[in-house]
Amino acid sequence: MIISTVEGLTKIAQGVRADGKTIGLVPTMGALHEGHLSLIRRARAENDVVFVSIFVNPVQFNNKEDLVKYPRTLENDVKLIGEYADFIFAPTVEEVFPTPPTEEYDFGQVANVMEGAARPGHFNGVGVIVGRLFSWVNPHKSYFGEKDYQQIAVIRELVRIGNHSTEIVPCPIVREPNGLAMSSRNRRLTPEEFETAAQIHQILLKSTEIKGDVPEIKAFVESEIAKVPAFTLDYFEMADDTTLQTVHSFSEAKGVMGFITVYIGAVRLIDNIRYR
Ligand code: PAF
Repeated sequence: MIISTVEGLTKIAQGVRADGKTIGLVPTMGALHEGHLSLIRRARAENDVVFVSIFVNPVQFNNKEDLVKYPRTLENDVKLIGEYADFIFAPTVEEVFPTPPTEEYDFGQVANVMEGAARPGHFNGVGVIVGRLFSWVNPHKSYFGEKDYQQIAVIRELVRIGNHSTEIVPCPIVREPNGLAMSSRNRRLTPEEFETAAQIHQILLKSTEIKGDVPEIKAFVESEIAKVPAFTLDYFEMADDTTLQTVHSFSEAKGVMGFITVYIGAVRLIDNIRYR
């Protein structure tokens, strides 16, 4: 069933809770792919009732062209979701934001680096919509993909700040057969760019075999990316997997991951990999 009003959403979710059933929420911006479907299937397996939201959230786009070009494929999304979700919340922008949002979050250090530094206002915009969804649906569990690893750290802060009771369930990245991390933005790549983009993951994979510390791995990734003429590196950072702060040596953190953002033409792709 498709719900388009906030009032309808909250009423249904309250009813489900009152019946003693568990709720799983999968927030999305639509243009669904196998990555989203893996979240939705997991939500289906772990909850009595599943809500999927489909909303291209204008306040998290710091780049207007990206917002305009973001694919909108509601009819197909509804077909793909099929029986996996009980309710699809697909509101208009006016329904979600009858007046411009005023929430100002301070997510602290996890939000100030990488995507937070590269895309001013982005995480606040994510917090605005996800915080509202949490309040409206009050889900027992909420599902997010690890391609946006930093976003998950920010959402954990959102849960803490907003006293939400939902459990955040991180789900592994789903990849194309060529290794490219699935993303709605991949639809904007030409077939040639799509093949080239696979090198992002291949380079990250090779970097896990480098015998050396953080500087050697960083140098390897940066030089390999520079060898591909179609790529413009935005950043490659190696960071603590919990605080998201840059590390200069493996000795600085228990868990270390690499986070990369690469432009192919105007399309911005992100990926990550775990080193330890
Ligand atoms: O990851 C996304 O697709 C979006 O940032 C989210 C969590 C649906 C909020 O708009």
